[in-house]
Amino acid sequence: MKIVGIIGNPIKHSLSPIMHNAAFAAKKMPYLYMPFELQTEELVSFLSIKNLKQKNIVGLNVTIPHKEAVIPFMHTLSPTAKAIGAVNTIVVKGSKLHGHNTDAAGYMMSLKKEAGFNVKGKNVVVVGAGGSARAVIYGVLSGKCASLCIVNRTLEKAQQLAKEFGQLFPKVSIEAYGLNLIPNPVFKNCDLLINTTSMGLNGTPMTVLPLELLKKKALVSDIVYTPLITPLLSAARRLKLKAHPGWGMLLYQGVLAFTLWTNKQPPVSPMKQHLQATLF
Ligand code: ATR
Repeated sequence: MKIVGIIGNPIKHSLSPIMHNAAFAAKKMPYLYMPFELQTEELVSFLSIKNLKQKNIVGLNVTIPHKEAVIPFMHTLSPTAKAIGAVNTIVVKGSKLHGHNTDAAGYMMSLKKEAGFNVKGKNVVVVGAGGSARAVIYGVLSGKCASLCIVNRTLEKAQQLAKEFGQLFPKVSIEAYGLNLIPNPVFKNCDLLINTTSMGLNGTPMTVLPLELLKKKALVSDIVYTPLITPLLSAARRLKLKAHPGWGMLLYQGVLAFTLWTNKQPPVSPMKQHLQATLF
């Protein structure tokens, strides 16, 4: 039995084991996906080749708070993981660890498959400037959006991201604003508004955004998936705007990780069904 798993802290509530074990069972593949709760100090021994070989670990997902901390242990880093500055998927090959990030492509896949949305040529507003924002921003810039506005409670963090990603994607217009000082045209021109902050998570309040200014065809997307319909998404629905929920990013980052570990396409339906059965 080959072992894959997820390292993070806390890890008890992770839905990845359910999703991946459903895929392995459906394909009758001899893999088991396990959660590993680790303190940061434990990373060095856990990620040693000796420990990984002993446990027969061939791949890992990485979640909060270790996505940045694992980088020094990687022998190679994919260009995406490097640009985002975070690793969410590790492939163990021989005695080497390869760091990847499937969050950006996973988000983009969810947009396409679950909302039928193509970001190319679109005006995008990203709320938030933390780790999740970095992945989403990299995704929409790679998808050739026409413009990007990063809005954040702490303006300096939005400005820093605008500067950093502006150097990577010099052709795209990237602006930064404080959350409460966003000019109306930013909303009026917006085709896709994405919340990457923890606002709305488990019932926490969401800063009210003037969604009524958005185009009728605009898509409102939230990467938070508990609750499934966040305060932002329910506000969008009340205004008859299209809403894109967060579970798709979780699903498709997992789909892409599965392929990196096994070189096989996973069966998406059982992964989706098991995820939805837990969340819905
Ligand atoms: P993650 O890795 O999940 O993105 P993070 O890196 O801690 O987490 O980033 C959290 C993001 O949510 C930040 O953009 C943060 O804004 P600040 O940069 O101003 O801290 C945002 N955030 C969290 N709670 C918020 C709140 N109550 N109101 C507005 N923004 C909030």
